[in-house]
Amino acid sequence: MDPYIITVASEKGGVGKTTLATNLAIYLKALAEDLPVTLFSFDNHFSVDKMFRIGTGSGHGTVAELFTGRRIEELTELGQNGVEFIPSNRQLSTLRDMITGDLLARTLQQSRGGGGIIIIDTRPDLDIFTQNALHVADRIIIPVKDTASLENSRYIVDFATTHGGGRKTVRILPCLVDARIHFEGPFKNALQLLRGYAINRGYRCYEGHISKSSKVESLNTNPEGRIFPVIHHARNTDVHLQFAHLARQIIVDIKDTSERRIGQLRLAEEEQHLRRDHALQQRIGDLVPICPLCSEKIVDDGAIAAVGYFWVAHHEQISGYAHDDCLASLLSQTFYPTSHPGDALRELFHETTRRDHFVLQRTQRSRNYPQQEIACYRFDPAGRLLSQRTTEDATAQQWLRHCFGGNLERVADGFIYISHCDADLPEEALYPEAERARRELFTRIETQLL
Ligand SMILES: Nc1ncnc2c1ncn2[C@@H]1O[C@H](COP(=O)(O)OP(=O)(O)O)[C@@H](O)[C@H]1O
Ligand SMILES: [Mg+2]
Repeated sequence: MDPYIITVASEKGGVGKTTLATNLAIYLKALAEDLPVTLFSFDNHFSVDKMFRIGTGSGHGTVAELFTGRRIEELTELGQNGVEFIPSNRQLSTLRDMITGDLLARTLQQSRGGGGIIIIDTRPDLDIFTQNALHVADRIIIPVKDTASLENSRYIVDFATTHGGGRKTVRILPCLVDARIHFEGPFKNALQLLRGYAINRGYRCYEGHISKSSKVESLNTNPEGRIFPVIHHARNTDVHLQFAHLARQIIVDIKDTSERRIGQLRLAEEEQHLRRDHALQQRIGDLVPICPLCSEKIVDDGAIAAVGYFWVAHHEQISGYAHDDCLASLLSQTFYPTSHPGDALRELFHETTRRDHFVLQRTQRSRNYPQQEIACYRFDPAGRLLSQRTTEDATAQQWLRHCFGGNLERVADGFIYISHCDADLPEEALYPEAERARRELFTRIETQLL
């Protein structure tokens, strides 16, 4: 079973995100003792550590390791009130440029599957860490304390719609509400006003709110430098009842939903893999199955035998593989006609062909003659022309003619592109990324053909 993930987010600071995330973990654990509850924060205030750490901590890892392939169970530390937490990290932001929006999802997809609840506290910023947390969330809670923070919710709702589990995952929760202030008119107080605004914008709200309380505010100011939980230290406040009420709503939500966002993401990824495999099998099936130079079979029953080169004609319409030796000897005969097999120059040339790109094309001046002269171009890895030779090699001519359906007219400006491929993974040349890279290369190469 995958965990149910709750992300607390708001682009505004000081709206009560951390207080909500940390205390909610305790209330949820108290209500459902058998459910593992795990908490971590992408903020660098260490509130989570200050509230939950027992003793000096055992140092399993930090939230940064969630992005480096460690499993979540290797990072959690058992904290106060039975809540598991992952220690915060002061240098998290240095990872910023190295991570993508789905890394956390990948880490959580690999988790052992003990179910339970994960609560993620975020920074007041839609940065890449918050984006990761929104992407995986079954539930996004946005605490709002005024109309400005409510207006700001729009960006999170938009993000949830495009990159997360959708708008339906979002709940607004009025927090730090001062119920003593009354208005004239349709909205009697700040709470009613916020709810009215939220509903008008099509956002769903939790039942209830979290009041502003000086007792709660005082819980993080003490000589020990700890943060005390509401459940033990502010039991006689409204906030205690409000957290308990909120936690009950969340437990009901969890029991009511059998699907988990992480499970859906895993499924979508598996489907994508299947589609990719299928597309690859189709590409392999469409290949010219023999080496065009020696006619020996290369592709057999969906498998590609040991080869050295991949070639493409007609801009991806016809393609196949060729033996290392067959193609290397054609190329060296073209570029170094006087050399012999075993020749040092030829060996050196053979070595360097592994990174370069080659193109075979009928030369302009022989286009109207049956005897074809073939131009062979050599490009460096960046697609810059290195050298050009002509050949009348019969095999090359046959190959060119064959690729263009035996029709000389169709050969016209067409070319055969050749590049070395990894003998251990020849199908890499058929991956969509490789095809995209080739198309880019072709536009660069074409302008340099004579
Ligand atoms: N219900 C509350 N009543 C009074 N003060 C609160 C309440 N919740 C949070 N605070 C205080 O408000 C400040 C901001 O809260 P915090 O949870 O850190 O917000 P955020 O994580 O959104 O920046 C903190 O000083 C916190 O102690
Ligand atoms: Mg915070």
